[in-house]
Amino acid sequence: MVDLASSFLLECESLDLEHQHLADIVNQVVKVIDDGEAEKCADLVSEFVKSAKEHFANEEALLVKVGYPHAKNHQDHHKSLNAKMDHLIEFAKMAGVNHIARDSLRKELVFFLMDDVITTDMDFKSFIEEKAKTDNA
Ligand SMILES: [Fe+2]
Ligand SMILES: [Fe+2]
Repeated sequence: MVDLASSFLLECESLDLEHQHLADIVNQVVKVIDDGEAEKCADLVSEFVKSAKEHFANEEALLVKVGYPHAKNHQDHHKSLNAKMDHLIEFAKMAGVNHIARDSLRKELVFFLMDDVITTDMDFKSFIEEKAKTDNA
């Protein structure tokens, strides 16, 4: 069960809600696997990838808007995840009939969310916080 600790919150409501939505889908994937309904993974993971791509685009636009100096690096990081997302989709398609694909999917999806999506965003967390403070001052 993925539960986003408050230390992972960006204090930016729209991005935090999108992260939570992604975590919710990951939890659903873990649940259908546990419940022996892994054939449902394909639809869930394609929803996850679609939501992740939309989230990346929203986040990139926000970073440019607030003038984050490393916005391009973060955009490149998101782009570098395309191949991983393709793998997740392939694992999910096979998850109903193949236990290795099922185990890989569960492990890779949780890592993807926590390491590649959420943790890398901590790079701009303090920038956004400072920006919010000065804007509200
Ligand atoms: Fe993000
Ligand atoms: Fe990001």
